[in-house]
Amino acid sequence: MAPSGAQQNPLLRALAGETLEKPPWWLMRQAGRYLPEYRALRVQASGFVEFCLTPPLASEATLQPVRRFGMDAAILFADILLVPHALGQKVEFGEEGPILEPITEGAGIVGLRRSGFSGLDPVYETVRRSRAGLPPQTALIGFAGSPWTVATYMVEGGASRDFRRVKAWAYRDPQGFGALIELIVDATVAYLFGQITAGADAVQLFDSWAGILSEAGFERWVIEPTRRITARLKERFPAVPVIGFPRGAGLFYPRYVAETGVDAIGIDTVVSGGFAREMLQGRVAVQGNLDPVALLVGGAVMRQEVRAIRRTLGGGPFIFNLGHGVLPQTPPENVAALAQLLAEPVDIA
Ligand code: CP3
Repeated sequence: MAPSGAQQNPLLRALAGETLEKPPWWLMRQAGRYLPEYRALRVQASGFVEFCLTPPLASEATLQPVRRFGMDAAILFADILLVPHALGQKVEFGEEGPILEPITEGAGIVGLRRSGFSGLDPVYETVRRSRAGLPPQTALIGFAGSPWTVATYMVEGGASRDFRRVKAWAYRDPQGFGALIELIVDATVAYLFGQITAGADAVQLFDSWAGILSEAGFERWVIEPTRRITARLKERFPAVPVIGFPRGAGLFYPRYVAETGVDAIGIDTVVSGGFAREMLQGRVAVQGNLDPVALLVGGAVMRQEVRAIRRTLGGGPFIFNLGHGVLPQTPPENVAALAQLLAEPVDIA
């Protein structure tokens, strides 16, 4: 009998807890502006939201890096801010990053679509097309932002230096802010159900701003909503692994792993390999954590960093990735060199 997809798929094997000799790999933000073929494709749509909601373009962007470098997984080409867009918030992408019409503490969630989250069917079509374009041994990862991170963009109206609006709202009016988080939890579950039904093999929750909260805030706004999403996904799709990426969570990483129910943990660049091995890898698969700047620099710098990570984490369930997304200035040749490096054996420390 032919092995099932999961058995011959290295990423899914590692997510299921297997230790593989060569680590499966993919890179956060592996599609995008550092690739000339992406830049050529991107000009075919006027806005970024429109690009993401055009399945022939978005599925091509999903497949481009895998075709060029042979990663073990493709990640759906979309954006975490499609959820606020589908909730009825105005979302635009300028030269400087995303711009949203901010949800204010005073008005709360009244302006948002409270039920019937919809409008993201094109994303599910992108998932179907992407899955159809991949060999069985390559996984397709779906994703969403975590409620806290999505809320930071919705309330701040874009990127922020100090996050004072969103944090002040959460401190002053936890119930009102909790209603916003609840709305995002429901939307995220519906969105991920759609992606999984369309063919995503695993999903990742990006919590890029998990690292700016106190312990009580982390519990309430990162752990709790993530736990609820994971539980609802597991109830309906018990076999689909969930990867959590609470960037910057530092010493809260072990609590996140113990309390959210995720199957794998993405570690950012500043998490020590030894800490991850001792405190996290006994429970879940670990994913990470090459510095995106080491990939940009390449050469001996990259080789040393990659070797150190593999020696420390390669003795348990491990997926090689970056500690954050690929930078747009990264030479594509460095990613090709990384692919070669990862095919070579290393001694485990
Ligand atoms: O290759 C992939 O990883 C898949 C696609 C993907 C994008 N965004 C495409 C994108 C993924 C997984 C994301 C996640 C995302 N989006 C996060 C979490 C990860 C992280 O980087 O912390 C966040 C915070 C966002 C929100 C967002 N989208 C920002 C802040 C920006 C502007 C900054 C930037 O990198 O340009 C975007 C725009 C965006 N999302 C682009 C891409 C390829 C660039 C826009 C373009 O190509 O015109």
